[in-house]
Parts: sequence; C-alpha cells; structure tokens
Amino acid sequence: MNKPESLAHYDSIRAVQWQGDRLRLLDQRLLPQEERWIECLDAAQVTQAIKDLAVRGAPAIGIAAAWGVVLAVQRGAEAGVALARLRAARPTAVNLMWALDRMKARLDAGADAAALQREAQAIQDEDLAANRRMGELGAALIARGSGVLTHCNTGSLATAGYGTALGVIRAGVAGGRIERVYAGETRPWQQGARLTMWELVRDGIPAQLIADSAAAHLMRSGAVQWVIVGADRIAANGDTANKIGTYQLAIAARHHGVRFMVVAPSSTVDMATASGDAIEIELRDPAELLSTAGRRTVVEGAQAWNPVFDVTPAELIDAIVTERGVIEHPTPAVMRMMFAA
Ligand code: MRU
Repeated sequence: MNKPESLAHYDSIRAVQWQGDRLRLLDQRLLPQEERWIECLDAAQVTQAIKDLAVRGAPAIGIAAAWGVVLAVQRGAEAGVALARLRAARPTAVNLMWALDRMKARLDAGADAAALQREAQAIQDEDLAANRRMGELGAALIARGSGVLTHCNTGSLATAGYGTALGVIRAGVAGGRIERVYAGETRPWQQGARLTMWELVRDGIPAQLIADSAAAHLMRSGAVQWVIVGADRIAANGDTANKIGTYQLAIAARHHGVRFMVVAPSSTVDMATASGDAIEIELRDPAELLSTAGRRTVVEGAQAWNPVFDVTPAELIDAIVTERGVIEHPTPAVMRMMFAA
C-alpha cells in the first residue's frame, strides 16, 4: 500500500464526536485494552475529561472545550464560568485557550446555541483539513527510504482526525517515502505505547515500539533520518513545548545528524509568548510515575517529580510544519512573517 490515493485508508479514527446534545469521547485512559466511549452532557463533564486525560492531545482538547461551551449554553449554564473552568483544565497546550477565545468572541457577538455549534464544528473541521495539508507538506521533506522516530501520540486520537506528526507519517508511508517507523513509549503515561501503536496497528502501518531510553542508540544505528513530533505550544521565536522527552530527542538528533521536524496547526502557535521560557509546564500527580497500570511499582515512601512537557529550543528544530507552510530553521523574523495576525 504505497500509492497516495490509498491515504484514506490511513484515517479511520474519530475520537471526539458531537451528537447534537452531547459529546462522545473515546476514553484514552483505557486504550488499547478497552474501546469505551464516555458521554459528556455538560461543560463540567468536558472539563473533567480534559483534566483526567480521557481526551488529550493539544488540538483535541481545544475541540472538546469548544463543544463544552456549546453544552454550557444548551443547558443554560453561566457561559463565563464554563469558559473559565475549561480554560484552567490544563495549562500548556495553547490550542485550549485558542479555541475558547474563538468561542468567547462568538458569545460576545451575541451568538446563540446554533451559531456556537457551527463555530465548534468549524474548529473541528479546520483541524482535520490542517492535518491533511500538513501531512502533504511534511512528507514532502522526507527522502524515499527514510526511517522516522515519533514521540507521544499525535494521531487521530490527539486531533480531529489523521493527526499532526502522525499525519506526516501516515502520508509518508502512503507515498512510499517512509520505510521504517519507530515510536517511543512516552513514559509515564505511555501515549506512544498505548495510543500511537494502537493507531498504527489499526491502520496497518508497520512500526516498532522502543523504550524512550533506546532513542539515542536507535539514532546512532542509522535507522532513522527524521524525528517527527507534534507540539503543545510554539512560542514566537520557534521554541516548542511538547511531551516530556521531546527535548532530549532533539539534542540526540542534532548529535547524530538526524533531522528534527515539529508538526502542528497554526492554532498551536502562540505569538503572544516570546520564548519557551514563558511557557507554563504542567506538573501532574507524581502517582503517575510511582505506579504502572494502576499498580504501585515504586517503594512506598518514595517521591517523584512529574513535569509532563518540556521545551525544545528553536535552534534544535530543522522544520516547523503548519498548514500555512514550512519554516526551516525557525527565527523570530520568519515566525512573524508567517503568523503575525
Ligand atoms: O499530555 P498529552 O497526552 O495531552 O500530551 C500530548 C502531546 O504532547 C502531543 O505530542 C501534542 O499535544 C501534539 S498532539 C497533536
């Protein structure tokens, strides 16, 4: 399967589904063992689903939050309160704030529930279209016969569908450019092991899981030519916040002459944040590190520090791919040219 027209085959998952009066979410805490859907009937349930990682991934949480605003208005809840709670659900991925700002602008303009529903649907549809475009743009950078390493989950589960970095991998495999795919486990929550591998197996894309700690060894072997990751927030100078472990992959990639690609829609670009130093990094419960699959694996009494994102400096990034185009070697000036309002 290596013809571009086979692309549709690599796109079968829709994890965020609006049902007219409720939001269905494929519960990502249970994958791959169980494919269970949860139904959110109000904005509070959407907020909780975002906090608990039932829905996760930067674009997906923005989309879910937009539907949360629709639910708040449909149920006659105080929209300002719902907006504030949704906004506070997670701090790092700017897509959440971006989507809520869009919904707030419509609310402030007097939009009714039907108009808000159209706006949330537009946010979701635009994300899917952006992912398909980024897939083409990113895959075009990859030479035939390449191997790639990805981190975390950036696929259909993390977006409206198709994915960002995983979208480039889908397009690169479909077009015959990518021959080898490796996915890091992404400790501690295991988005790579549990979610990316689930998507790849489901789409019939051959891939190998590696322990996060095997990445530098893999790069030294010559099997990968690109590291391809998503982003949770890209600052005005190109510094990029993404899942914890991304920064060390970028350092190892530079050392080994492996190129490093960030793939994210323009909704992930935050021109109001000057550099990565100003990005808030989410700290999650240390229990996520002290246990595996709900079972304590570390001695009682031990403590842990659990930052779940890190910042990769722009100078380690070879290409930022958005639906607006590709920026090679990001600088503040080029970022301004592409993303100034
Ligand atoms: O904590 P998560 O699972 O929400 O983190 C997700 C990531 O870091 C992804 O790599 C990022 O959001 C890009 S997803 C298209």
